[in-house]
Amino acid sequence: MLELRDVHYGTGDKEILKGIDLVIGESRIQSIIGVNGTGKTTLAAIIMGLNGYRPHRGRIFFKGRDITDLSITERAKLGITLAWQIPASFEGITVKEYLSIKKNFTAPEKALKLVGLNPNLYLNRVVDENLSGGERKRIELASVFSVKPKLVILDEPDSGIDMASITAIKKVIKNFKKMGTSVLLITHSERMAKVGDTVSLLCDGKIVKEGNVKEVTEFFRKYCRECDHIGEIEEEILK
Ligand SMILES: Nc1ncnc2c1ncn2[C@@H]1O[C@H](COP(=O)(O)OP(=O)(O)O)[C@@H](O)[C@H]1O
Ligand SMILES: [Mg+2]
Repeated sequence: MLELRDVHYGTGDKEILKGIDLVIGESRIQSIIGVNGTGKTTLAAIIMGLNGYRPHRGRIFFKGRDITDLSITERAKLGITLAWQIPASFEGITVKEYLSIKKNFTAPEKALKLVGLNPNLYLNRVVDENLSGGERKRIELASVFSVKPKLVILDEPDSGIDMASITAIKKVIKNFKKMGTSVLLITHSERMAKVGDTVSLLCDGKIVKEGNVKEVTEFFRKYCRECDHIGEIEEEILK
């Protein structure tokens, strides 16, 4: 349903994405794993079409349609969503209000249940610093459920949250799939990447290995976790 063909992107004279080919099917969870600074967030921005993020070379297709030149709003209307951190401007309103802001297909109560939060306990909570990182993340994901996207891009959904919430978020990701939403799961954690049906390993702006979850995450553990140079992987290692 989503296809990237030879996507290149850079700023100034720095090339960040160096020819990305990627295909995500219907109701699939596709993980992208990579250490810091390899271009994961840039890739998310390019797929969502954030301002200024247009490929310098290559094309992006969604359900067979070339969306490379479409705006973020047009892509959102087609059903592509990036899970945003709850913007500061929503601080102070209730969770129920937050989950009712957009033109939603799913009631706030149901959306909360899908992320494993009890509506009776959370609907009238105020969005403020009293919510834990994990609770905020799950409320953010509830807002994604509300709009029933075809594809959701999750950029490091496990960052800054507790273990219990990580377990919950893995379930949420599977719930997306069950509801027919494909997930692009971006992470630097092997444990999170394993939720994927398939995994692609991003290194220095290129996908250097992809496919089987066990194989790719083991490769990552062996060669990437300790790698701080973020440079070329030697050809012989990749064979
Ligand atoms: N707007 C920008 N200007 C210059 N360099 C950038 C910009 N955005 C990202 N980069 C650089 O591109 C590389 C990839 O960044 P990013 O996509 O955020 O990586 P990741 O999410 O994998 O940590 C990094 O070296 C980062 O410093
Ligand atoms: Mg990032």
